[in-house]
Amino acid sequence: KNVAIIGSPFNGGQARSGVETGPLHVLEHGLEKQLESLNWNITSSKNLIFSPPESDPDEGRLKRPRYVSEATRAVSSEVASAIKSGSFPLTIGGDHSLAIGTVSGVFSQFPDACLIWIDAHADINTPASTPSGNIHGCPVSFVMGLADPCPPQFEWVQPLLKANKLAYIGLRDVDSGEREILKKHNIAAFSMHHVDKFGIGKVVEMALARVNPDGKSPIHLSLDIDALDPEHAPATGTPVRGGLSLREACYICEALAETGNLVGMDIMECNPVLGIDERSVTSTISAACSLVRCAMGETLL
Ligand code: ARG
Ligand code: MN
Ligand code: MN
Ligand code: MN
Repeated sequence: KNVAIIGSPFNGGQARSGVETGPLHVLEHGLEKQLESLNWNITSSKNLIFSPPESDPDEGRLKRPRYVSEATRAVSSEVASAIKSGSFPLTIGGDHSLAIGTVSGVFSQFPDACLIWIDAHADINTPASTPSGNIHGCPVSFVMGLADPCPPQFEWVQPLLKANKLAYIGLRDVDSGEREILKKHNIAAFSMHHVDKFGIGKVVEMALARVNPDGKSPIHLSLDIDALDPEHAPATGTPVRGGLSLREACYICEALAETGNLVGMDIMECNPVLGIDERSVTSTISAACSLVRCAMGETLL
């Protein structure tokens, strides 16, 4: 079992600084040792370096389009080369716009993969629907090719993700334009309402049945730490109350690990600077590390 850790200290997909320090905090928490004790061989562990272009005017509503495009393009090639060299790409953000890169990289190598997106938000706004202009609210629409016309900066992004290969769990703050997209494309979207109604075990089962009915698809997991209730992960840029418990989120990761089909993972949106005290930072970072360990084979018994 080989893993490539791709630290991605990037904040250009949203407005709050601090999220670029996420990877450092997660690594300082001891994630590498934790993975080694789960018998992972760390083939590479790097912190990418991103620098904003001198000039980066808005493209329509989209903010920092060049910076996001360059960063995600670099992440995409890191992820693809990790896979080519036989390693599991673990990308630590940074903001969730980075998933333009991780999903592009994974799907370039595994075209029949499916994507499980764990988040309070759907992050499927298009350049036309985004209320904020923050690209971390848009990555899914980009990798699906829903951005029409595609902003010129993102012409390198291939529409590799089909609507029937995407499932969400944990949603509770979805914009009205996003709701329309989810309906129109019949995307498997499980909100906190479904988690309450069916329980997390059933929800994961239903999500996998929708995107991976024969159980053979490779699976990429993109996890936004704000999927957790702010009680467990307060240090994040867009917290929304009423979220997953730590155990519910861990359960999702464990169940995906059990499929034996996970081929990549993102852990995004930890922003240590937004913690109100030491304890809230530590709980957020340690939750992130727990989720990674659960997805990478840690079991309770
Ligand atoms: N839906 C909002 C927007 O598009 C919030 C997105 C939050 N995304 C995130 N990755 N935390 O601006
Ligand atoms: Mn989110
Ligand atoms: Mn997100
Ligand atoms: Mn709960």
